[in-house]
Amino acid sequence: MASGKRILLIIGGGIAAYKSLDLIRKLRTEGFRVRCILTRAGAQFVTPLSVASLSGDKVYSELFDLMSEAEMGHIELSRDADLLVAAPATADLMARMAQGLADDLAATTLLATDKPVLIAPAMNVRMWEHAATRRNLSTLRRDGVAVIGPNAGEMACGEFGPGRMAEPEEIVSAIKGLLAPGARPLAGLRALVTSGPTHEPIDPVRYIANRSSGKQGYAIAAALRSLGAETVLVSGPSGEAAPPGVKTHRVETACQMLEACLGAGQFDIAVCAAAVADWRLADQSSRKIKKRADGRAPALQLTENPDILHTLSQPGATRPRLVIGFAAETDDLGVNARRKLEKKGCDWIVANDVSPETGIMGGDSNTIHLLTAEGVEDWPAMSKTEVARHLAQRIASFFAQS
Ligand code: C5P
Repeated sequence: MASGKRILLIIGGGIAAYKSLDLIRKLRTEGFRVRCILTRAGAQFVTPLSVASLSGDKVYSELFDLMSEAEMGHIELSRDADLLVAAPATADLMARMAQGLADDLAATTLLATDKPVLIAPAMNVRMWEHAATRRNLSTLRRDGVAVIGPNAGEMACGEFGPGRMAEPEEIVSAIKGLLAPGARPLAGLRALVTSGPTHEPIDPVRYIANRSSGKQGYAIAAALRSLGAETVLVSGPSGEAAPPGVKTHRVETACQMLEACLGAGQFDIAVCAAAVADWRLADQSSRKIKKRADGRAPALQLTENPDILHTLSQPGATRPRLVIGFAAETDDLGVNARRKLEKKGCDWIVANDVSPETGIMGGDSNTIHLLTAEGVEDWPAMSKTEVARHLAQRIASFFAQS
């Protein structure tokens, strides 16, 4: 039995909404408390009366009605739930979620929540396969949203293919999995992630930097958060959006990154994924350096930046129990990564070959070799989101065994 775990079920506007009625019934039989938001389009397929009768609760539909009711606004609806489930999640609802729109009660509640979210997509096969839906799906996964289905089969529109909402019993079992005590194995632990490049100013208009999109670090922060760790992300300049539920500090230089890490408190886990610039200008010019009439280039005097990974790895009472560094190499990956593990004093190194032909820099996939005291694990090529999930699970097994 689910001992009163609370589900906020958002019923979108698709023919599969009729299956959501059965979902409510099955969830209640399993001991869940179910509260429902019915979108306007959803109400074209199932009636508020059916939803209210099956859930045994009032049905919520309109954002502005709620705003006048101080006791149960959209924030309270989310606060009051252990898990939000959107079923059916239509192409439109997924697009609005991926965009962060807040144009009705369902979208606003999904945007306002810091609770885990599960979606059960259902739509016409061509809508599911459309590039826009693929993009939205990958954004949602990156944001830590869990996805069940859709299943392949015959569809209400007469076509055949993936697009049918997962069956209620499959959704119930996904919900149970997400709410099982072992589903958030890092709960109670604090994790620090550094990500992105650092920019070291030369003068007010120029800087030195390493190439880095921040994608891998942001995905790791989201994955650690979804396993329950209280996660702090310290990021250099990056176009990536802050992962939901992750406290994100944006910095520019290596010195600022170190200061933000040291000022963020004590951690159990530190993952240094940032591509920190090795040097900064010894003397940064406060004015733009002008070209010289004699054609001579200015001599830039560099000084070494603090090594954040090395600093965090120092033995002592405040050292995180697990410190993980990255080694992005173009040559002799194994040898250089092993050397880095010893030199930096960290526990694991996540090594990857970033030669230009691999397309890893700025790309969406990665091939990882994980170095630990026990040896090397060669992981198959996977997306950066999958690498992050894999690493977070690996971290969870470390803490389960220690
Ligand atoms: O640049 P390098 O190859 O030494 O980076 C290896 C690891 O050290 C990475 O995890 C990187 O985030 C970390 N690092 C750091 N501070 C630096 C340089 C590197 O935390 N100044």
